[in-house]
This record gives sequence, C-alpha cells and structure tokens, in this order.
Amino acid sequence: MVREEYWQKVRSAKEGQKLSPEDILFLLSTAEREEEEVLFGAADQVRKDCVGDEVHLRGIVEFSNCCAQNCLYCGLRRDNHALVRYRMSLVEIVAAAKNARPQGLGTVVLQSGEDPWFTRERVIDLIRAIKEDTNLAITLSVGERPYADYLAWKKAGADRYLLKHETHSPTLFRGLRPGRELGERLQALRWLRELGYEVGSGNIVGLPGQTDEDLARDIQLFIQYDFDMIGIGPFIVHPQTPLAWAANGQLNRTLKVLAITRIITRDTNLPATTAAGVLDQNGRRRALSAGANVVMPDITPPNYRQHYQIYPGKARLTLDCQEFRNWGRAQEKEAGIEWSCELEGAETVCMDIRNAFLELAGVRIR
Ligand code: 5AD
Ligand code: SF4
Repeated sequence: MVREEYWQKVRSAKEGQKLSPEDILFLLSTAEREEEEVLFGAADQVRKDCVGDEVHLRGIVEFSNCCAQNCLYCGLRRDNHALVRYRMSLVEIVAAAKNARPQGLGTVVLQSGEDPWFTRERVIDLIRAIKEDTNLAITLSVGERPYADYLAWKKAGADRYLLKHETHSPTLFRGLRPGRELGERLQALRWLRELGYEVGSGNIVGLPGQTDEDLARDIQLFIQYDFDMIGIGPFIVHPQTPLAWAANGQLNRTLKVLAITRIITRDTNLPATTAAGVLDQNGRRRALSAGANVVMPDITPPNYRQHYQIYPGKARLTLDCQEFRNWGRAQEKEAGIEWSCELEGAETVCMDIRNAFLELAGVRIR
C-alpha cells in the first residue's frame, strides 16, 4: 500500500520542491516495500533527467592499507594486528594508475588509510609522476591532513578529493572514531572546496545506534555542502573490529538514503558503492536503478587488493574493465548499438547497453 501523502511528497520532490527535515525523515522512515519502490523509481527518473543515461567509471588504486586511525568499524584500523599490511612503491602505484587508460578509464582514485609514510612530498611526487605520463584526472582519498598538504597537492595537479564525513551525528562520530571530531572533518571539507578541488563526501548507513534522524541529518549535510560526489554505502561488520557483535546495515535503507539524495541534489555523482555489492549480490545493480550513476572498478594489483580489507568480502568483488569492454564491443557489433566509450575518452558507458551493464554489475562476483 502506498499512502497518498507518500505519493504526493515524492512527486513534489521529484518536481524540484524543497523538502523540510521532517519531509526527509518521512520519506526515509517508510518500511513499506511499495513506497520504497515509488521512491526508487522517482530517483531513477531524476537521475535520467539530470545526469543522463551514462554510467561513469572511476578506477581505484588502493595503494596502502596502513592506517594511524582506529575507527571502530574498519578492518584497516590501527589495532587490527591480524591484517597483513602493505604499501605499494611509487613505481608500482604509477604503473597501476597508468594501467587505467588502456582499460578505458579517464580518472584514477588514489586511496589509502591515513598513512603518515606518505608525506606531503611523497604524494606530490606521485601526483607529478602520474600527470607527467598520463592525462588522467587524479582523485585523492587519503584521509584528513593539514591544510598545507591539501594546498600543495592541488598545486601539484590533484583534481578531486574524497573524504567521507561518515556520520553527521557528533556523538556517533566521536564514539566510532576515537580522538577525532566531526567539526574538524567538516572544516577539512570546506578547505578542500575553497582550494578548488572537486569534493566528494559520503556516509555509512546502518552503523550501530544510528537512527533515521541521524541519516536525515546526513542528507541535510549533502544539501548544505553541495558536494560533487557522494558515496552512500551500508555498514558491513568486520569480525576483527570492536563492532564484530553488530548487525550489517540494510540494503534498502541504504538505497532510500541514496534515492532521496539523488532526488534532492539532482546532478551529483552518486556511486553504486562496492559495499552495496558486498552486502547483496544485486546491490550495485539496484543502486544504479535507485539514483546511482557511477561505478568504481578496483584496479589495485590483485596481490595487494586481497589485503585491503576494510570489510570482509570486498576483495572478491571486482568489475574487470577489460572484460566488460570486450563484451560491450561484441554487443555493439551484434546489436548495432552505439557505444559512447570510444567517443568520450572511454570514460562512460552508453545507456543503450545500460540494462545489460546492470546485469553484469550485479553478477560479476569472484
Ligand atoms: N562497512 C562499510 N564501510 C566502511 N568503511 C570503513 N569501514 C566500513 C565498514 N565496516 C568505509 C568508510 C571509509 C571508507 C574507506 O570505507 O566510509 O570512508
Ligand atoms: Fe583508517 Fe579510514 Fe579505516 Fe578509519 S575508516 S581506520 S581512517 S582507513
């Protein structure tokens, strides 16, 4: 059953009317499957109208799993002594990044834990080396750093920065990220924007103790900060963390946050997160049908990738770009459909093959 009021709220939001915090909470807190479907359908339509029918690919290189922080939810946390730690060398990182182009990727995301070994200078060297050899857009995702680092990296050529705010509840934030403050993280996000980065943020859905009110506050933050990209992923329990006792986040709850974010922010880049794919075999496909328009294939060399265990099951999930593209080309020949990858710097996938792509994103689990 879909309540009349729910229909109306979704319809007016879809048409661009502003939602009050109460409205957001109202849309979010339904547990009625049919109402959820109405919400997802509206988000899919807004995605189509505002960012079009292309799925953008962003290759990600996880170059170090060492981390000085101790977030209670994360497998890379400092106190997880069971994890095999690695740091890729500069040469290895540059080689992995350069590998992005032949795979048809125009953007590379360099991600790591908060690893002090990668000093300001070392990261500058990395950015310069990649920019010298390629015309890839560089996204950094290396955690909270001093202002001077962000500034120096921007000058060296970095284009984008990903820093999830994780949760907009100061209490949860303090409890789950020992020694860290939400206010500092938000300050960092403002600095990054001032410095001219394209800024990505995001949250985790289903953290223990997190309420719908907390999630509504996350969405408020997305509206307020006008991010270029927002990663919304479910919490996944890692057995070697203090949250081993907790329950996984729910996919539908995650999709509701995603869908409302799409409807409100209109043209933001919203990834179908790997965590959604780990939680549910069809997670990424469902996210792409509820407002998402980005997929981030993991291009970390497999010998390292297996150790980047933020949560269990992550390394199993890959979307092999080369295989996918070969398959896409075959489809193109067979069905005579246009495939925009070749035309547009090979970064996007034409929506003519979108449905088939969704199938692929859903089933490619290794
Ligand atoms: N479940 C889901 N996402 C997690 N992250 C860290 N631990 C988990 C977990 N257990 C996310 C955080 C962080 C990113 C690197 O991974 O949002 O920003
Ligand atoms: Fe480190 Fe990030 Fe994991 Fe926190 S979430 S422990 S900062 S890698």
